[in-house]
Amino acid sequence: MTVFSFISIMTAPVVDILIYAGSAHYTMNSIEIIEKKRQGLIHTSAEIDELVSKVMHNQIPDYQLSAWLMAAVLNGLNLEETTALTHAFVQSGECLDWSDLEGISVDKHSTGGVGDKTTLALIPMLASVGLIVTKLSGRGLGFTGGTIDKLESIPGFKTELSVETFKAQIRQIGMAISSQTPSLAPADGKLYALRDVTATVDSIPLIAASVVSKKIAAGADVIVLDIKYGQGAFMKDLAMAKALAMMCREVGNRLGKNISTLISAMVEPLGYAVGHSLEVLEVVRLLQGTGPKDLETLCLKLGAVAMVSSGKWTVLEEAEILLKQQLHNGKALEKFRALIVAQGGCDAFVETPGLLPAAKQGLPVIAQHGGYVSAIDALRVARACKLLGAGRTTKEDEIDLSVGVVLQKKTGEAIAKGELLAMLHANTQYVDEAMAMVQEAFSISEKPVLPCPLVEEVVLSGKTLNSIAL
Ligand code: URA
Repeated sequence: MTVFSFISIMTAPVVDILIYAGSAHYTMNSIEIIEKKRQGLIHTSAEIDELVSKVMHNQIPDYQLSAWLMAAVLNGLNLEETTALTHAFVQSGECLDWSDLEGISVDKHSTGGVGDKTTLALIPMLASVGLIVTKLSGRGLGFTGGTIDKLESIPGFKTELSVETFKAQIRQIGMAISSQTPSLAPADGKLYALRDVTATVDSIPLIAASVVSKKIAAGADVIVLDIKYGQGAFMKDLAMAKALAMMCREVGNRLGKNISTLISAMVEPLGYAVGHSLEVLEVVRLLQGTGPKDLETLCLKLGAVAMVSSGKWTVLEEAEILLKQQLHNGKALEKFRALIVAQGGCDAFVETPGLLPAAKQGLPVIAQHGGYVSAIDALRVARACKLLGAGRTTKEDEIDLSVGVVLQKKTGEAIAKGELLAMLHANTQYVDEAMAMVQEAFSISEKPVLPCPLVEEVVLSGKTLNSIAL
């Protein structure tokens, strides 16, 4: 089966020699391109195209590309350069076309966090209000969990759909999810693999080009980005998250795509559950109207941003109210079950959670002293899950879908000595080390602590709403 062999509408031949108005232009060699960025100079679009062309034709070795990446991280890329890089990434592969589907298509993307199961919840929530959700998702790498992996914990659920099946399913139930094809922005795929091993991921322009190019190539009408900040996210502070959000919107704008952004805190894990099947069960609770407050808040805000960005609704608060109704009247859960059944899965776990993969042991993590939970280090919780087998180091690694951590307390809550902080769902691997790590993830203070605001900023149609307005 060809998975996602979409008809390319924007595939452009990558040129070796740049020809303008009939005359051959001098093209820079790799060393000149690296040197220019090392000196902090600004690339022309033609130079960026040339670099990406070399990447696609295997004409630049990894050591030279790594040198350019490091120069770009250290000296930056301005908006024009980032736009040119994004455009070149888009042009390096296929672009999906949903214009033959009736309705407004929506794609929500998160820059990745711990316990972030918002995509799983938002697909049925948005489909339940009549938007079409065309979702291509990735697998988890490093400390972030992938939506596709989470769905694979549902017995029978198929995560690789052909384009025909994908579109047929959208026509039938208004939503589908499939693993992302490598043919979207393949130049980004090549660069990202290198960034991952050369300490060059942390760069606002490189992240913006990477994320926006894939979203443009994926072709949805409405793009909503959830940009996370905090120690459990790529962006470690709010200022960086705001800068990334602005760059993504601006680049999208220049390439003809409206992108709405929301900035959310990833200081503690989102919700209580971290781990694949554990997160699926938490999504069910959310869709039954009894999910964790922070998860529900974020899903309602992201969903409302998507709805208003679609132009079918005008007021964020009204959109949120409608979505909340869908959680409480069972319509969102009904859609979730329809999604599972349409993709070959068995939805009986909604009533019988034991049908999902379950770890052999449930081990309590106990508070050593009383007080108030002042912080829960999301990264430590994620590392504990990885130790238990839930995370990958390389793309080829097998993962354990049953293990994870379920927090019992969140930041700001009171805790007595000997009370439960979290439950470890473990099989046999690195249990003691994971237990110690979860214990260390919790900070307890004597005085009450207020958790930081979950949603910091929403930018929608050029309008900025800060956390107070939200
Ligand atoms: N996610 C991406 O897709 N690209 C990045 O560069 C970082 C996060």
